[in-house]
Amino acid sequence: MTKKVLILGATGEIGGRIARLAVDAGHQVSGVSRGLNSRSQVDLTGVKMLVGDKGDEAFVSEVLAKRDIDVLIDSVPSINNVELYSKYLKQVENFFFCSSTGTFVPLQYFPADENHPWRDETTVNFYTQCIRDKRILELWEQEKFPATIFRPTNIIGQGRVPLELWGARDIEFFRKLKNHQPITIAPCEHIMIQSGYNWDLASAFVKAIDYPEAVRGEIFIISCKHAITLGQYLQTAIEFFGSKSVIAHCPAEKLKAIYPEVTMKFRMDFLLEPMCLDISKAKKNFGYAPTRTTQEGLIEALQWCTDAGLL
Ligand SMILES: NC(=O)c1ccc[n+]([C@@H]2O[C@H](COP(=O)([O-])OP(=O)(O)OC[C@H]3O[C@@H](n4cnc5c(N)ncnc54)[C@H](OP(=O)(O)O)[C@@H]3O)[C@@H](O)[C@H]2O)c1
Repeated sequence: MTKKVLILGATGEIGGRIARLAVDAGHQVSGVSRGLNSRSQVDLTGVKMLVGDKGDEAFVSEVLAKRDIDVLIDSVPSINNVELYSKYLKQVENFFFCSSTGTFVPLQYFPADENHPWRDETTVNFYTQCIRDKRILELWEQEKFPATIFRPTNIIGQGRVPLELWGARDIEFFRKLKNHQPITIAPCEHIMIQSGYNWDLASAFVKAIDYPEAVRGEIFIISCKHAITLGQYLQTAIEFFGSKSVIAHCPAEKLKAIYPEVTMKFRMDFLLEPMCLDISKAKKNFGYAPTRTTQEGLIEALQWCTDAGLL
């Protein structure tokens, strides 16, 4: 059935792809952004774009509250956004929020599923997102705020520099591989990683539109089917470039001293957390069906970096 879908963050990597797929699925789609994002964007033909700040109470209460919206999807929600939606947007049947599997770390069992603990702060988890998600579920339990939380793993695919083995998205890592230069990394090749291909992740939101009752009050992990090791991930990149780079190792905390010129945000602590997640709940509840492996997503991302002249 055709729905009126509003996507907050519709020019983003995931938000844009949700918008594209929702139009292609026959929905009536509007999008919101502030018009600031200059990164690679998908074709938004068919999406009625509005310029606005979703953190602005007047925009939510005076502009969005007057719109006919069946499903609101926020790809980058803050707790403040959630409070505004629950206060002013009573007409919406379903709210879909993009969260992260970074809420679950460190994983206590593999593959981790939606029952895995996530509510407490740890040294590595994305605790701000945990606080927001707790509030979303509280609103669902207390007021039947019709929300669904989607938790993607690390995102990969065309449009953004992929994660590297310095724990960031630093193109310099891949330039070194391409140019056969030596690279030093922490000893991490045995660590598990599970990336989600950006189009597959976006498809989860669009598929769930068809199951409005079944998804309310639920959390769904979305990713590719299986985890691989960082060693396999690195090998995929090496083979993509035909690289002859020599890979050396040092303790993680020494990497910054070796590469002071590299602009890494250095979430090495997060990279060293094994990621292995179970996507069967999303498969069962709304037919989520990822099409790419982590390696295939990485190859597409590296091909995009090449085509975009970043390498
Ligand atoms: N990166 C990862 O590996 C990873 C892993 C797991 C989960 N996640 C989650 O996945 C989501 C990423 O979404 P994405 O890739 O689509 O993000 P993105 O590419 O950074 O795009 C963000 C979008 O939101 C818009 N936006 C930001 N602030 C806004 C505001 N105040 N009002 C209106 N629009 C606003 C931006 O446009 P303007 O700036 O022009 O407004 C843009 O359209 C995030 O929730 C992240 O936590 C990411």
